Amino acid sequence: MQPNYPVLELKEIKKTYIKNSFLHKQETEVLKGANLTLQKGKTLALIGPSGCGKTTLLKIIIGLEKQNSGVIKLFGKDTLQISKKELRGILSKIGVIFQDPYSALDPRQTIEQILSEPFIINKKYYTKETLIRALKEVSLSEFDLKKYPHQFSGGQRQRINIARALILKPELIIADEPTSALDVSVQAQIVNLITKMQKKYNFALLFVSHNLALCKYLCQNIVLVKQGILTEISGDEL
Ligand SMILES: Nc1ncnc2c1ncn2[C@@H]1O[C@H](COP(=O)(O)OP(=O)(O)OP(=O)(O)O)[C@@H](O)[C@H]1O
Ligand SMILES: [Mg+2]
Repeated sequence: MQPNYPVLELKEIKKTYIKNSFLHKQETEVLKGANLTLQKGKTLALIGPSGCGKTTLLKIIIGLEKQNSGVIKLFGKDTLQISKKELRGILSKIGVIFQDPYSALDPRQTIEQILSEPFIINKKYYTKETLIRALKEVSLSEFDLKKYPHQFSGGQRQRINIARALILKPELIIADEPTSALDVSVQAQIVNLITKMQKKYNFALLFVSHNLALCKYLCQNIVLVKQGILTEISGDEL
């Protein structure tokens, strides 16, 4: 890949949700033509008021929601023009860190099962050592492999989420307000862990946050989502 290769490109993404209530059908146009480019290894923050469509956009990127129109290119490939198999391969190069570290981990699975799942789904080889190394990177230990999510604090669970998101060495990490559900005292630790990992693995980072100071600290580019449109702003305008 060339140094300035775009890992993610969005062109004119539109999304309308239809809510069916008892009496009538209500349409909400959440995204009215979203455009965005994220280069390899760079960090981009999405900010905007609650309900403006940030999570919707992330879900569209990873295929959990479908856009009504518009083009998504991941690593140069138009997601609508490739086979399901090729799309699965491309999606395995994206790691996702969700907002709520409690609901993101299946309470019935051990940490070993949670961390091995991405390998199993993508038919990739791993050993127990691979899982232990991933846990140690986020300051947890091999003895945590046999434990269940309820045995950890919120900050520790988010570390497990980060370990899982990173385990296939993705080229793009999408983090949807990864610290907002956490105690203030551990928020900085989690942000520092994400930036430390980015320095080590050089992944591109798409970071959603309400925290403007944090966005300015973390990101080369800040994009405001407002009334369905994305506008790039410089940190000084905030
Ligand atoms: N599955 C759905 N069906 C219908 N409407 C939805 C659905 N998901 C989201 N919406 C609506 O779309 C809008 C955008 O929601 P979204 O979750 O993307 O906002 P957000 O910017 O992530 O907000 P927050 O900062 O609070 O997380 C909201 O009005 C929401 O009610
Ligand atoms: Mg959201």
